[in-house]
This record gives sequence, C-alpha cells and structure tokens, in this order.
Amino acid sequence: MEINKAVIPAGGYGTRFLPVTKAQPKEMMPVLDKPTIQYVVEEVVEAGIDDIIIVTGRGKNSLENHFDKSYELEHELEKSGKYDRLERVRGITELADIHYIRQQDRNGLGEAVMYAEDHIGGEPFALLLGDNFIQSETPPIAQLIETAEEYGESVVALEEIPWENVSSYGIADVEDTAGESYPVRDFVEKPAREDAPSNLAIVGRYVFTPEIFDHLRAIEPAPDGEIELTDAMRRLDRVRGRAVDGDRFHIGNVPDWLEANIQMALRHDDGELFETVRQTLREELED
Ligand code: G1P
Repeated sequence: MEINKAVIPAGGYGTRFLPVTKAQPKEMMPVLDKPTIQYVVEEVVEAGIDDIIIVTGRGKNSLENHFDKSYELEHELEKSGKYDRLERVRGITELADIHYIRQQDRNGLGEAVMYAEDHIGGEPFALLLGDNFIQSETPPIAQLIETAEEYGESVVALEEIPWENVSSYGIADVEDTAGESYPVRDFVEKPAREDAPSNLAIVGRYVFTPEIFDHLRAIEPAPDGEIELTDAMRRLDRVRGRAVDGDRFHIGNVPDWLEANIQMALRHDDGELFETVRQTLREELED
C-alpha cells in the first residue's frame, strides 16, 4: 500500500470558537506565528506526501490565500531587504501541491471527506483534521502510514483521554491494546460516559483504504443530519488503532487554543523571539 495523497477537511463553522470564527476560519487561528493549518500541512509534507486536497467552504478564502503566492508582498520584502521574511513567505507557497474543493452544504466530517473522492481516485489516502496538530519527532501521519503499509489496512490514531471527555470524541471499542497497533472492533461517535466502550479517542489522524467512500455513501445521516465519518468507519472490514508519539494540540475552542500557544511558546527554540513571554510565563507559574 502506498500513500501519495492527503485530505484535510477545513470546512466547518467553528461554532465552539465564536465570535472569533465568524469571519475567520478556525484553521487560520495562529499558534505563535503560524496558522494551525500550516502545522498540519507541514506534517503531511514531512511524511513525504506533496499532494494535498483541502476541503474548504464559504468564507474560507484566507486559507487559500495563505498557501498562495503573494507577488506584492514578496516584491516589497525583497525591495526592503527583508530576506529572512521573504524566505519564510516563499517557503509556504513551495510546501506542497495543494488543491481545494468547496463543501457546499456542511453536513459533517463524513460529507467533507466525500468531497475529496474524485481527487483521491481510488487510492488509499491520509486524512488529517485541520484544527489540531501533534508535535513529534516522527510526523504522526507517517507513524500511521507505516502501520497501514505493514498490514494493508485502514489505521486510526487513538489516544487515552480522561473519561469525563469521552463525549467530545469518537471512541474505539477494542479487545486489547497490546502491541504497537491493534484491531478495532467498533467505534461510537461522542458517546455518553456510561455508554463509552473505552476511553480511547480518535484524535484526527487516519489512513483509509478507498472502501471508506462506499461506506460513506451507504450510511444514513445521524439524527442531527450530519454524515458521520465514524459511522462509515464502523463498516470497514478491518481497521487498526495505534497510539502516536507526540503532544497533541486541539484548536477547537479558546482554552485549548490558549494552552497550545502557551505550550508552544515554552518550547519554542528560536531563541530571542518568545524569550520575554517565556520568562513571564515561568515567573507566573512559579508564583
Ligand atoms: C471529529 C470526529 C471525532 C474525533 C474528533 C477529533 O469531531 O467526528 O470522531 O474524535 O474530530 O478531534 P469534531 O471535534 O469535529 O466534532
């Protein structure tokens, strides 16, 4: 199995982050000096994939502009001799071959994935949610690809989370979690705590065989009208779960976004830029 393409759904309304997401996509919320989605695109590129399709929607143009060439800006930076910034701006454009498709109605994550089907063209593919990223030595999606290639099956990243949070995630039902990866029997989307089969949560990184599209077409919408990716995953003949190494940051709401910025500022290694912030944070934490 060879994975050459990645899908990043980024079409949601970001309702848990309103009002800031009224006119700005949540995927463009900055973590330090980069929008969240840039971390996700960089993860894909580091895993050796340079063909990406981002599923966007109305009001998400800034996403496309971010990865597009900006002639005026580059010209200005060159003229004023700001070569380090010029290099950073150019680097974004050169990251990957990025395609866009707009989700017309926004009927859930499953529907967003269906929009990518024509571009994927019957191949296995990687799927990364655009509102979270994981800092790791080995890109998390590369870890999943390794398992998918070894077993020839779909693979999903799972993480043990506090039981009180299970109703915010897709949850896996597994027999046991021995080994680096293990078969998943079933999934349930956002269960009540008492109904959750485990506290192993789906954390936004997947590798799918193309059968997922048949299952997405076959399932009924959930009671709220959304096509749930998790419902389609339940129908896959075989799917494995694995934990991925790294620290995960979710940018779905204000507390999570703040925490991502604080954590990233504390570990940022470019010396000067965030040093004052780091000092203040350490002093505050010591008090
Ligand atoms: C989506 C998925 C869910 C997954 C979560 C990870 O939910 O439906 O299975 O656990 O992403 O972030 P959302 O957070 O978009 O409601």
